Amino acid sequence: MTPLDWTPESWRSMPIRQAPAYPDTAALSRAEEDLRRSPPLVFAGEVRELKAALARVATGEAFLLQGGDCAESFDAFSADAIRDSFKVLLQMAVALTFGGACPVVKVGRVAGQFAKPRSEAMETVGDRALPSYRGDIINGHAFEAAARIPDPKRMLKAYSQSAATLNLLRAFAQGGFAGLERMHQWNLAFVAASPQGVRYERLAQRIDEALAFMAACGLSSKSVASLGQTAFYTSHEALLLPYEAALTRVDSLTGDWYDCSTHLPWIGERTRQRDGAHVAFCRGIKNPIGVKIGPTTTPDELLELIDALSPENEAGRLTLIVRMGADRIGTALPSLLRAVEREGRTVVWSSDPMHCNTLKTASGYKTRRFDRVLAEVRSFFDIHRAEGTYAGGIHIEMTGLDVTECIGGAQAISEERLSERYHTQCDPRLNGSQALELAFLLAEEMKAERDMRRSALAAVAD
Ligand code: TRP
Ligand code: MN
Repeated sequence: MTPLDWTPESWRSMPIRQAPAYPDTAALSRAEEDLRRSPPLVFAGEVRELKAALARVATGEAFLLQGGDCAESFDAFSADAIRDSFKVLLQMAVALTFGGACPVVKVGRVAGQFAKPRSEAMETVGDRALPSYRGDIINGHAFEAAARIPDPKRMLKAYSQSAATLNLLRAFAQGGFAGLERMHQWNLAFVAASPQGVRYERLAQRIDEALAFMAACGLSSKSVASLGQTAFYTSHEALLLPYEAALTRVDSLTGDWYDCSTHLPWIGERTRQRDGAHVAFCRGIKNPIGVKIGPTTTPDELLELIDALSPENEAGRLTLIVRMGADRIGTALPSLLRAVEREGRTVVWSSDPMHCNTLKTASGYKTRRFDRVLAEVRSFFDIHRAEGTYAGGIHIEMTGLDVTECIGGAQAISEERLSERYHTQCDPRLNGSQALELAFLLAEEMKAERDMRRSALAAVAD
């Protein structure tokens, strides 16, 4: 139940971090009013479907795949880029569904992923300091004083770009493009040329055979709708609360509040204070909520957060996105898993192996080593296996573009090659080939987990 004293504005009286100081408050009010009059981007019924799907993840019957850009941008907005990232997510989903024999809940970091928390309020270049870039929904990336002033009109542009993006994704997901017969068309040229692409093509051929067999048995996308389409959901960090609150609406069917800017909003590691504005806002909306969990989180702190955000312990409500770093996850995660188990709290455990495995090269590139990313994912699975809990998902920064932002992978991107196609405005992303490589590794982990559970069941039966 929504707390009785809650409104979409109650967060305003709570301490808030990472909030831009808009100099023109009248312009801010006008932009909020415009957004309040604008149609919702997502609908309560879809959000409830996602929550039900996440409930199946919480109980170990499905797997969550969440991925997309670190930050969307106004300049890089293009239909081709959206399509190509969607293709790679579909490829990953196929590898996981087939290899893991497990339904995959597909969620993009997309159609709203614009606002960025920053560790430093100011950015210094040479002897000049300017306010930090906070994402295209807030200010401009250019290192110029005028660009860095928070501009509320940017919220309206972000809204319309999100609407156009969602429109395209809905068409892709439901209009035939995502049908399993189209599997071969998702293999982008540069991915197809990599060892992962070849592996994908082999997998696709096996699935073709299975589909042909099923068609011969009378089951094809003509008779079974789910073969010809997929459910695709959106997510972003609910950082900019004026934007989120303005798109929060009462569902006419149930009378409940939903944040209709996205299906799955999450709270970042920097803004998840128990008594802070972001938690205060998310408490009252009915969407499923994600929370990033860093390596210094204590069990008590985590349980308090779970109490605040999921007081009814509803399966699917809360996804804990663990981002600890390959070096620290082994010591930091087990006590959290035990505390949550001990208290009988139902959550989805997902791994973000990106954010604590970031480094700066000597030449100044912010990058990630692919082997460290894989190491954190492997540890995540190992720890869950040891604790008897379920490793339910993955949260990654990736793109369908052929970028060189992360070091390593089967294409063996070296530190020297980062400059070739380093395009991100924020954090380094896995490219299509690296993302697919990760998916194959995950599929193997899931298979191992399934086999283990199966032999455990067989042992009980004996
Ligand atoms: N509808 C099913 C699902 O989403 C099968 C499916 C259709 C699918 N297209 C897909 C699975 C693309 C993975 C990727 O799971
Ligand atoms: Mn990021």
